[in-house]
Amino acid sequence: MDKARRLIIAGNWKSNKTNAEAIALVTEIKRDLHAVTEVDVVVCPAFTALAETSKLIVESNLRLGAQNLSETGYGAFTGEIAPGMLRELSVRYVILGHSERRQFQKESDALVAKKAANAHANSLIPIVCVGETLAEREAGITEQVVEGQLRGSLAGLTPEQVETTVLAYEPVWAIGTGKTASSQQAQDVHAFIRKVLVSLHGEAVARRVRIQYGGSVKGSNARELLGQPDIDGALVGGASLEAKSFVEIVKNSI
Ligand code: PGA
Repeated sequence: MDKARRLIIAGNWKSNKTNAEAIALVTEIKRDLHAVTEVDVVVCPAFTALAETSKLIVESNLRLGAQNLSETGYGAFTGEIAPGMLRELSVRYVILGHSERRQFQKESDALVAKKAANAHANSLIPIVCVGETLAEREAGITEQVVEGQLRGSLAGLTPEQVETTVLAYEPVWAIGTGKTASSQQAQDVHAFIRKVLVSLHGEAVARRVRIQYGGSVKGSNARELLGQPDIDGALVGGASLEAKSFVEIVKNSI
């Protein structure tokens, strides 16, 4: 695919896969994608599997991501993961503000912004997620909701930091439901997100930001979604849990 920005396909494994299962899955993905250099491919296992999977992906085209990050550094913060702990394991990306964390851990835009700043300060690339619920879409306030989340979650970042941030548009009603946004619905919101980025930091920055789509992406719909001009990759949940389906998505993006 001839795209303005390099595509980035990330597998969000959520709270799935033991360490042993993660090793098996990364081994398969690595084998099947060894020749793929056209797109950035990221796997995001649970924290408990990062150390072993990190050893496996050395000298492969795969990159490692984590699913959360503390807004602070080392210290008395029970249960938190500091950036240095991830850096040591060659983690490059961190998913932040996923709708499941916004919903179940009550993460706010302000907290996501602090975590994103902490990621950048420590050379980690945040994948910042935004997206409306079904009720919000039906109420006709999708753009309002997405704009609020964007402005709040990117608050305080420098233009350079925003430029290298990866955004993920994930309509909540499409996550894990098998209901994908149509490619036009997704493209419309992606174009809108880019418009918000222009108003925040100007054309040049907005043009460089990669915006992934997430929500029931699979091999059969990947090509059509990724063919849209403002869709620069995919954040994949369910279909990233098996090598075959994840590899198919990556291959269909080329
Ligand atoms: P899904 O999840 O692909 O299972 O819909 C996407 C996500 O939550 O990142």
